[in-house]
This record gives sequence, C-alpha cells and structure tokens, in this order.
Amino acid sequence: MTDFIISPGPLLGRAAVPADKSITHRALLFGAIADGVSRIRNPLRSGDTRATLGVVRALGVDVRESDAGELLVHGRGLHGLQEPETVLDCINSGTTVRLLMGYLAGQDFFSALAGSSQLRKRPMGRVTEPLRRMGAHIDGRQGGKLLPLAITGSRLHGIDYDLPVPSAQVKTALLLAGLYADGLTVVIEPGPARDHTERMLRSMGAPIQRKGKYITSERPNASLTPLDITVPGDFSSAAFLLAAGALAPGSDVIIQGVGVNPTRRGLLDALIAMGAAVQLDNWREDGGEPVGDLRVRPAELTGVTVQGDQIVTMIDELPVFVVIATQARGETIVRDAAELRVKETDRIATTVTELRKLGADIEERPDGFIVHGPTRLTGTHVSSHGDHRLAMALTVAGLIAEGVTTVEDAACASDSFPGFETIMRKLGAKLETAGSRSF
Ligand code: S3P
Repeated sequence: MTDFIISPGPLLGRAAVPADKSITHRALLFGAIADGVSRIRNPLRSGDTRATLGVVRALGVDVRESDAGELLVHGRGLHGLQEPETVLDCINSGTTVRLLMGYLAGQDFFSALAGSSQLRKRPMGRVTEPLRRMGAHIDGRQGGKLLPLAITGSRLHGIDYDLPVPSAQVKTALLLAGLYADGLTVVIEPGPARDHTERMLRSMGAPIQRKGKYITSERPNASLTPLDITVPGDFSSAAFLLAAGALAPGSDVIIQGVGVNPTRRGLLDALIAMGAAVQLDNWREDGGEPVGDLRVRPAELTGVTVQGDQIVTMIDELPVFVVIATQARGETIVRDAAELRVKETDRIATTVTELRKLGADIEERPDGFIVHGPTRLTGTHVSSHGDHRLAMALTVAGLIAEGVTTVEDAACASDSFPGFETIMRKLGAKLETAGSRSF
C-alpha cells in the first residue's frame, strides 16, 4: 500500500493533466468497430483505460503504439470482433463493463465479464434490464444485477427507454446496442449526462440523433469512419488542481488543454457562483470537444446550493467540491446526488467519514451533504477506501490542513490520474509517498 503524506502549502505554476478517461475508453471501443485504423493522440494510460485496452485486444483487435505515443486501433468493422477465449477483466472500471454490455449484447458470440471486488459490488441491473427489453441474453449474479456476467450475443430490437437516472454509461450502452438492433432505439435522458458518445459516434458517421432529451440510435447503413483525435486533458483530473489553487493561500495555477464540455464542467460553474477567482482562456475546439486553459487563484468563497441538472455535470467532482465547501462562508448544500452512493465507494459516506477526521463540519444526507464553513482542518490519518477520487480530494484537503495529513491507500489515484503525485510536486506541493504493508 502507498500512502501520501502532505504538508500545507501553495500550488504555483503551469501544468497539463492526463487525458480524459471517458473519451479514451470510447475512442478504444468505437475505433475497434470502425472500418480502418483509428489514430488516438494523447490517450489516457491509467488503470481504468488499461482495462478497456485489454478487452479490445481480447476481442481480436490489433492496437499498436506509434513512436509518438499514439494508439493505432486497427478497427475490424461493426461485425468483425472475435469471440474472446477467456473472461474479459474490467478490473476496477465501471465504464468498461457497462459500455461493454451494450457493445457485446448484439454480437454473434459469447462473452463473460468480470472485475475487482470493488467492481463486483456495483449495480449492473440498470444496464441488464433495458438491454433485456431489447432482446439481450445476459445472466449473472443476482439475476444479472452483479458481476460476473455472461452475455450470449442475440438479435436485438430497438426500444424507447426513459433512463431512471442520468447515467452516461447506461445511455452509451443502449446507443451502442442500438447500432446492432432492428428498428430505432430511443433513449430519453432525465438530465445532461456527458455526451462524448454522441459526439464521437456522430463524427464517425453513425446515425445518432438528438432532439432535446431524446437521443436515437439505429443500425448504420455504412461502415463507421475511423477516428483521428487528440484526447483533451480530463476536467475531472483538473478539478483537483483547480480546488487546490482556489483554496491554498498564495497559489496561482494554470492548467493547460483541459476539456470543458458543458456536460462536464459543473464544478467550474459552482466555483464561479462561490466567488472563486477562476478564468477560462484560450478556448478552442479540438476533435469535436471544447478545450481551454484554466487559471485559478484563491479568493473568499461563499456557500452555494448545487442540485438538479447541475449534479450530473459535476458528479465525479463532488468529493473535492465538499473539500472546497469546508472553506466557504456559510452553508453549502448538495442535493439530488444519491448516485454518489454507487460509485467506486459510497462517496457520500466515505467523504463525510474522512473529512470529519480532519475537522470538517458536514451533515450526511441520503442524497448529498450539508457543509458548514469555513472550518480549520487539522492533519491526521485518513483513508481513500481504495477510491481514486477520494484519495485525491483528501490530498487537496491536506494542502490546507494544519500539520501533516497522511492519506492511506492512495496509489489508486492512478486509476484515473497517473502521475498525480509528480504533477502536484512539480507545482510545489509538499507531498511525499511512503509504502506500508498490512499483514
Ligand atoms: C462515465 C459516466 C459517469 C461517471 C464515470 C464515467 C462515463 O458514470 O461517474 O466516472 O465515462 O460514461 P454514470 O454513467 O454511472 O453516471
């Protein structure tokens, strides 16, 4: 086990963050069913995206690395994937397993999906259930609600489906299944879940349409065009630097080349509403995704309420948002975020438990938090619970806590943000790593 040991201090300078995780997963999977070679520049190489890369290779797809570090995915066409000879290991990655369910349901072969003990606890019924309505044959633990899962490819037909929760993973699974189904698949989304799938598949020529909350998918009448994309920096990784820059006295941070897709940047809106000194410069469009540079410095923050449609646009940022809220004057309320309970950990419970150890004043709610601020945080031993985003949120808390904070079991940060410690140190953070072993 690796621990992070953090002392307070500012972050200063410029940095780029690793590439977007959601976009990298999609580029690998969608490139694999295109006709021809997809070129993915600046892919994310993290624990989670390595799971997707392993799966794509197990489905018979040749993926090579160019001298320039690009991934070249030799797509086999919509019907060219091969039956995997062994179980597809999704490791810790919820996106991998849920996207695959839709991707594999309409193939003409059998596949089995497995994952880590953390992933085996996460709900899959939300994907199994609508896919079965489309004619999919999926079995698994608890009637297909939990991994491991077995998928026997079958003939699918389109359905109209009202998503019960605004989940990009479920939406994507259904849109992918729709590419293999007879008739039209209509997904009705209750909130603005990230739309990378729609943008990317459309850029490949797939018949994906959106009208308001209605997104449709159907069988393409031509092959999919290979991708040629540069993956932008991950807003969800930039969020930790943004938070540290907004909170640690004396900071001034510029984060270059960050994806600022409107379905992802709810934290930016929340920070602005709180009075943060944050600005977005050098706005441009790259590969169908908006990209910009973010600059942040500390300012007096005031508590806000985040709820409704804003929640899905900052769902992965909520643990670090709560850290920010501990330093804002007054009450910050987070509502409508019950989804946090089924992430890598129950992020409502784990965030409250760990931040309270540092002295934060937080009430736990079934669907969120009430944070009273500002509070002085004091360093102590806290745990990531094996959750990458919690590990990094607690590291940010360590940068503003008095004394030394030890984040136990922090190596999981590399599930989404490889090199987190190195970038933090480059920006001047007093962050050491230490190995510990449990017997
Ligand atoms: C993701 C969607 C979100 C997000 C996850 C990545 C994606 O999950 O929390 O980190 O890439 O589609 P849900 O679809 O479960 O909301």
